[in-house]
Amino acid sequence: MRRGAILLTGAGGFIGQKVAELLLKKGYEVVGVDNLNDYYDVSLKKYRLNLLKPYKNFIFYKIDIENYNSLKKLFKTYKFKAVINLAARAGVRYSIESFLGKIFNKLNFTFAKK
Ligand SMILES: NC(=O)c1ccc[n+]([C@@H]2O[C@H](COP(=O)([O-])OP(=O)(O)OC[C@H]3O[C@@H](n4cnc5c(N)ncnc54)[C@H](O)[C@@H]3O)[C@@H](O)[C@H]2O)c1
Repeated sequence: MRRGAILLTGAGGFIGQKVAELLLKKGYEVVGVDNLNDYYDVSLKKYRLNLLKPYKNFIFYKIDIENYNSLKKLFKTYKFKAVINLAARAGVRYSIESFLGKIFNKLNFTFAKK
């Protein structure tokens, strides 16, 4: 098991990439995770990750943090000293629509069963 790295989720994101860069410049080992979803242009996320590639203390995994088994595997490989969670779908409208959508779909299903 490797010790001392920082787990940073959303590493391909606007904020995540910047935070990763700051930490890498300070000499921390950063394990970046991102599922590279298409919530907005994926090429932008890939471009940001490419900026982090030159750092030898950066490792990237394309992982969805909603996937429990992938995360479990990662935590078995590394003993993280910190976790910074910046994986998000940072849009108020989407969050509301998606959240309410899920609830109403469940409710409809429940009613349909009765
Ligand atoms: N952008 C801002 O100005 C700002 C300001 C204050 C706070 N924040 C907060 O910072 C966080 C990140 O915002 P951002 O602007 O960098 O958003 P962003 O969309 O650019 O980055 C989020 C990243 O998370 C990844 N992601 C989403 N769901 C994932 C999942 N299930 N598994 C793995 N990766 C996943 C996305 O692919 C994306 O690359 C959010 O919580 C946001 O609210 C942002």
